[in-house]
Amino acid sequence: MAFAALIAVTALVGITRAAPTAVCPDGTRVNNAVCCAFIPLAQDLQSTVFMNDCGEDAHEAIRLTFHDAVAISRSQGPKAGGGADGSMLLFPTVEPNFSANNGIDDSVNNLIPFMAKHPTISAGDLVQFAGAVALSNCPGAPRLEFLAGRPNHTIAAIDGLIPEPQDSVTKILERFEDAGGFTPFEVVSLLASHTVARADKVDETIDAAPFDSTPFTFDTQVFLEVLLKGVDFPGTDNNTGEVASPLPKGSGNDTGEMRLQSDFALARDERTACFWQGFVNQQEFMSSSFKAAMSKLAILGHNRASLIDCSDVVPIPKPAVNKPASFPATTGPKDLELTCKLERFPTLTVDHGATQTLIPHCSNGGQDCPAIQFDGPA
Ligand code: HEM
Ligand SMILES: *[C@@H]1O[C@H](CO)[C@@H](O)[C@H](O)[C@H]1NC(C)=O
Ligand SMILES: *[C@@H]1O[C@H](CO)[C@@H](O)[C@H](O)[C@H]1NC(C)=O
Ligand SMILES: *[C@@H]1O[C@H](CO)[C@@H](O)[C@H](O)[C@H]1NC(C)=O
Ligand SMILES: *[C@@H]1O[C@H](CO)[C@@H](O)[C@H](O)[C@H]1NC(C)=O
Repeated sequence: MAFAALIAVTALVGITRAAPTAVCPDGTRVNNAVCCAFIPLAQDLQSTVFMNDCGEDAHEAIRLTFHDAVAISRSQGPKAGGGADGSMLLFPTVEPNFSANNGIDDSVNNLIPFMAKHPTISAGDLVQFAGAVALSNCPGAPRLEFLAGRPNHTIAAIDGLIPEPQDSVTKILERFEDAGGFTPFEVVSLLASHTVARADKVDETIDAAPFDSTPFTFDTQVFLEVLLKGVDFPGTDNNTGEVASPLPKGSGNDTGEMRLQSDFALARDERTACFWQGFVNQQEFMSSSFKAAMSKLAILGHNRASLIDCSDVVPIPKPAVNKPASFPATTGPKDLELTCKLERFPTLTVDHGATQTLIPHCSNGGQDCPAIQFDGPA
């Protein structure tokens, strides 16, 4: 009897903690009144920049969460950078100008106007929240945790803290360890982001060269395709940080697949290869692992306990397409370059076709979908 009552009380406390404690002006019940300001921000971001699409502008905002947050160093101390602090937006002529941040100016200029339009929201919160909203447009993506309350007062980060595609696996793992104690598994988990990613600057002769054949869905294809034998380059050969890809063919605005040297190396290095291979065709595992690692990335430089949980204002992501991973036409199991000896590789189907299928430039299958681009100081 006493035991049952105790369980009842414990359950009640649990419910009270989780229950919404504030009602926003639009009637939405949220965890804390602080979270209300993010509801109109999400709508504004969607209708002004992302257009509910997992396209170029969403991809850029997702990349920005990383480049803002990882600029922090445990060995060099607080003067090196404040982590997920919005310093990219607050010092738009400093960090975006570093060569490792090449191309980040687009997302910085797109987000800067939202600081004045939503003045109660700090730059650091804006960067991480925009990334979570952007990601929700990508089918299969997790609903990211979002904690609010990063202070605005900050400094610009020093150069040299952003990993580059020509870096060795050792250098990359050391940088992530120094930034926030990320394990090799967490580093590979974060690279699920490259399933919704394209490069503009690695090869300046081509725009929006995708890292996998499905750049508008948060699926596991990137983990499969990076394991395939490279055959050629989508644009010019041998750019810094680039290696040959398995699907180099393009036409017009449909650019062939690009492979980063860093992704190639992480997929084959003995410290990371089994984690990489382990995500192939494991949608749920990949998505939940990415979410967990992003929770850590998004609050670098802050104490979790001093932030307020506003995850309930992150839009619910589009559901996964639920198409199993498959070998793109012209590739197959014979092209796998596997170095993980502990796991059996999954059996996957091969897409039919004697020639490489073009990867569409736009999420609607077309070739013409200009990105939203605001002018700005970056
Ligand atoms: C080893 C670590 C990483 C390296 C070396 C790396 C490198 C790169 C490079 C070179 C590009 C292409 C940029 C361009 O030419 O336009 C890129 C794009 C991108 N990266 Fe990473 N990245 C890393 C980790 C991450 C992480 C942790 C995230 C997010 C959590 C991320 C998200 C993205 C996204 C979304 C894009 C696509 C941007 C767009 O399509 O406009 N990357 N990355
Ligand atoms: C950006 O960096 C280049 C060198 O990489 C430098 O010449 C230029 O002055 C910098 N621009 C700004 C605005 O700091
Ligand atoms: C943060 O700084 C920006 C730029 O100065 C400003 O627009 C914004 O209102 C500030 N936000 C907060 C919460 O102080
Ligand atoms: C690219 O690099 C490969 C390997 O180093 C080399 O064999 C090839 O000749 C290079 N191609 C060009 C166009 O420089
Ligand atoms: C390629 O994209 C540009 C810019 O959006 C557009 O003007 C052009 O029409 C596109 N090409 C095709 C074949 O759709």
